[in-house]
Amino acid sequence: MTLQSIAEQLVAKGKGILAADESDSTCAKRFDAYDIEKTPEMRRTWRELLFTTPGIEKGLSGVILYDETIRQKTSTGVPFATFLTSRGILPGIKVDQKTEPLADSEEEEVTKGLLGLQERLREYVGLGATFTKWRAVIRIGDGLPTSACLQENAVRLAKYAKESQAAGLVPIIEPEVLLDGAHTLKRSEEVLTETLLAVFAEVEKANIDLSGLILKSSMALPGKDSGLSASPQEVAKATLRAFSSAVPKATPGIVFLSGGQTPEDATLRLNEIVKEARTQNAPWRITFSYSRALQDPVLKAWAGKKENVKSAQAIFAKRVEDTSRASEGNYGE
Ligand code: 13P
Repeated sequence: MTLQSIAEQLVAKGKGILAADESDSTCAKRFDAYDIEKTPEMRRTWRELLFTTPGIEKGLSGVILYDETIRQKTSTGVPFATFLTSRGILPGIKVDQKTEPLADSEEEEVTKGLLGLQERLREYVGLGATFTKWRAVIRIGDGLPTSACLQENAVRLAKYAKESQAAGLVPIIEPEVLLDGAHTLKRSEEVLTETLLAVFAEVEKANIDLSGLILKSSMALPGKDSGLSASPQEVAKATLRAFSSAVPKATPGIVFLSGGQTPEDATLRLNEIVKEARTQNAPWRITFSYSRALQDPVLKAWAGKKENVKSAQAIFAKRVEDTSRASEGNYGE
């Protein structure tokens, strides 16, 4: 498969991506909420519940895995990557490795993971991966983000994307503008625009093939602690204004992270953004790459108990179906 065909498949009509690439520590936080044992076997059981849910291939083009997960198997002994591929779902892999403090800016971080990346990518190809993900974190606050933070994260995202393409893997570049903070929708739109401009300037410098690249983005949203609300229409317009000023037309697709929004908000807003993008004749396919907005109600229903697997899977199937409908602008119709 060429980079372009993988990218197109990832953002095919009515489909989106499940992010199931939580690190052990992130997964531990989610498991703690329901007193679920934090062992590799419980994480394997949880991912098996998700991946074996009947019908999800209708709404999922890909699943992002974590290093531990891509080495794990179903209870019948099939490696997860092989199992997903057999269902027509592309396996991907998170390749960034934690963050480090940014020099001279105490509250900001840069993402690590370039060291030894080439070797790891080669191994992941052997394990069946077809695409990769790298997440950078951008914080809005007093005097934040600094241009140094945007610049350093953009440089690393572009370096990673270059290496990923060289290994034959489609890079998903994810500069996440956090929902944390008391900022307005307008400020979020400004920071999203600046972030994307910085990222695509580096992508261009690094001579990356845009046809084999996916952008994973936040929506423009008022900060979690702002006390402000915005309608799905306002969110859609602000988000698309940022994309129009910064995302090259040749980028085949943009996928959203959910970033701590409720599943219902993430679905409604995606639906509205897709409808507005259609009205504006936007050049990119737009869909989802959610972790929490797809998984949270499912994890709650499962709570680590065998007897809950079937009912939790039914909830997951419905979350995938609803989100897939939103990716076509048909949710709630
Ligand atoms: P959320 O949808 O929970 O924000 O996670 C998406 C993701 O992959 C973050 O890197």
